[in-house]
Amino acid sequence: MASRYREIYESWKQDPSGFWESAADEIDWISTTDKVFDPDQGRYGSWFPDWECNTCYNCLDRHVERGRPGQPALIYDSPITGKTATYTYFELLEEVEALACVLDDLGLRKGDRAIIYMPMIPQAVMAMLACARLGIIHSVVFGGFAANELATRIDDATPKAIIAASCGIEPGRVIAYKPLIDRAIELASHKPESCLVFQREEQLADLVAGRDHDLGALQADAIAAGRRIAPVPVRATDPLYILYTSGTTGQPKGVVRDNGGHMVALKWSMKNLYDVQPGEVFWAASDVGWVVGHSYICYAPLLHGCTTILFEGKPVGTPDAGVFWRVIADHNVVSLFTAPTAFRAIRKEDPTGALIGQYDLSQLRSLFLAGERADPETVNWAIEQLQVPVIDHWWQTETGWCIVGNPLGLGQLPVKPGSPTVPMPGYDVQVLDDAGHPLGPNTLGNIVIKLPLPPGALPTLWNADERFFESYLADFPGYYKTADAGIIDDDGYLSIMARTDDIINVAGHRLSTGGMEEVLATHPDVAECAVIGIADKLKGQLPCGFVVLKSGAERSHEDIEKELVRLVREKIGPVAAFKIAITVDRLPKTRSGKILRGTMRQIADGETYKMPATIDDPAILDEISDALKTHGIFV
Ligand code: COA
Ligand code: AMP
Repeated sequence: MASRYREIYESWKQDPSGFWESAADEIDWISTTDKVFDPDQGRYGSWFPDWECNTCYNCLDRHVERGRPGQPALIYDSPITGKTATYTYFELLEEVEALACVLDDLGLRKGDRAIIYMPMIPQAVMAMLACARLGIIHSVVFGGFAANELATRIDDATPKAIIAASCGIEPGRVIAYKPLIDRAIELASHKPESCLVFQREEQLADLVAGRDHDLGALQADAIAAGRRIAPVPVRATDPLYILYTSGTTGQPKGVVRDNGGHMVALKWSMKNLYDVQPGEVFWAASDVGWVVGHSYICYAPLLHGCTTILFEGKPVGTPDAGVFWRVIADHNVVSLFTAPTAFRAIRKEDPTGALIGQYDLSQLRSLFLAGERADPETVNWAIEQLQVPVIDHWWQTETGWCIVGNPLGLGQLPVKPGSPTVPMPGYDVQVLDDAGHPLGPNTLGNIVIKLPLPPGALPTLWNADERFFESYLADFPGYYKTADAGIIDDDGYLSIMARTDDIINVAGHRLSTGGMEEVLATHPDVAECAVIGIADKLKGQLPCGFVVLKSGAERSHEDIEKELVRLVREKIGPVAAFKIAITVDRLPKTRSGKILRGTMRQIADGETYKMPATIDDPAILDEISDALKTHGIFV
């Protein structure tokens, strides 16, 4: 089929408001107005400014009312615990309403915040939807973050409640969440009024009298009593959630997502980008703590009337590299969405794809990859093994959905390896030089998006509107700065080459090296430090920290390096995957004192590099190279 992409993209360009107004027909609104976009509201305008809606109603009630009560809405598949469970739309609505009743009983109201700190269990999705039902703004925090990071988010979001589970389960270890939560509340200045804990049998939590409640028990009571609670009308522009993501400092950015535009964009994407029909099974193998989990485990599949899969496991080791294929076959998954790193992990364990042959994957139609660069080697392996289109697509926590992709639902465009293909409607993507001048095709520069951003993208940062402006809109007036660098070729295909800031991407997780440097600098023996991301065959990048010790430091370098590794794990969390700390005598700098992180990365990755003209002392680069070799890092 010839792709309709160009025609559809052009129709958006001709009439953006008309395009999104017609996409908005797919959503059930409580009230609408004639105004689809107000250029005078917010930092760059506002979508569906006075429209009213409820996201939970659109995800659940309308499907129960209109023909899908008995269809599975959510399938929980947990190889790590050996459990599975299926909730139909009717059952999921019942659970969500019960949880919403519990939140209401605790006094949570529209506009209040609730932090959700949960592993990949159904109650995590139920909690998100229960908040959405009442207009409570949720903020899900990924389980791999430490107490300190949770405390930062508690202070920024000032939640009335924390909704948690007693533990998370990683291969070989059970992680008790409650001590982490108690510690975070102790560290934070803001004290949430209540803490709802879902008790998992793998490890029960001690509950603090008065503040803590047994979530499962309260939810069960509400169901037994047949309690219901109506969806609360919210404005389309009211926040649905805050999702914290790494910025250039240790203070994460609270990306705000609204209700209306978010629903319109996600619903559009299910059919037109992912080519999935209502009633089909869609699986995003990510975590609800990340944006992919918010958009494509929870909200989009349910908005579209699909069955979504909640997978608690890893691509390898739970129990083996065949688990993805087992899940696809068991549940008739038609489209899988994951990060390239998961496929690199599977390929490493099962290079010939022997395990793939053991399962019936005939229902699978496509594989979507995002979160980090999809290396052509991995993409080609996946195509060869699965014999379905493998679609790389580029997006960010900030945008909430795909910026550049290959819209299968409009007819697949020819694939160019290494390129996520073309901008989706809503995104006018351009490449500018540092002074803001447009660059021609095939020239590397700053990737920017002409304002306004489309529905679904962030209107601002929570409690930090000025930071929103400074971080994203100030450098290139009239444009949103993506902080990715890349090129657009003669056919309009985009390639993402690198970040322009200090964000690194480790196993599809976005991390701030600046945040890690802040932690290293707190060590009493550290005088100076620099953290860079070095290439890793499995995880894409790994953080690598260089430290210069204070002259009086007495303990061995090895001991201090081990302490530094422990410190980052303790302060940021295991997800930082910070395992390499290297002591050096000096850091390479420019004459004005700027640390040459880029050159250090090039050395570590074995790339040829140009001696920076402004370097203070070139001999230091050899010292860095020697230190890397001593630590077993290929240079
Ligand atoms: N709670 C607590 N700890 C967690 C955690 C969680 N939810 N998730 C990860 N961790 C821990 C891991 O156990 C690991 O700890 P360790 O240092 O003791 O081994 C550490 O954080 C680093 O985790 P990760 O980088 O994910 O590595 P891994 O070795 O556990 O798994 C992959 C490697 C490639 C299999 C895994 O990263 C993966 O599946 N990635 C997919 C990425 C993804 O879904 N991205 C979302 C965007 S689509
Ligand atoms: P996150 O906000 O965690 O989704 O991370 C967003 C960043 O991940 C982007 O700014 C890119 O640097 C990177 N990224 C995401 N998807 C892709 C992709 N398909 N190709 C290259 N980089 C990507």
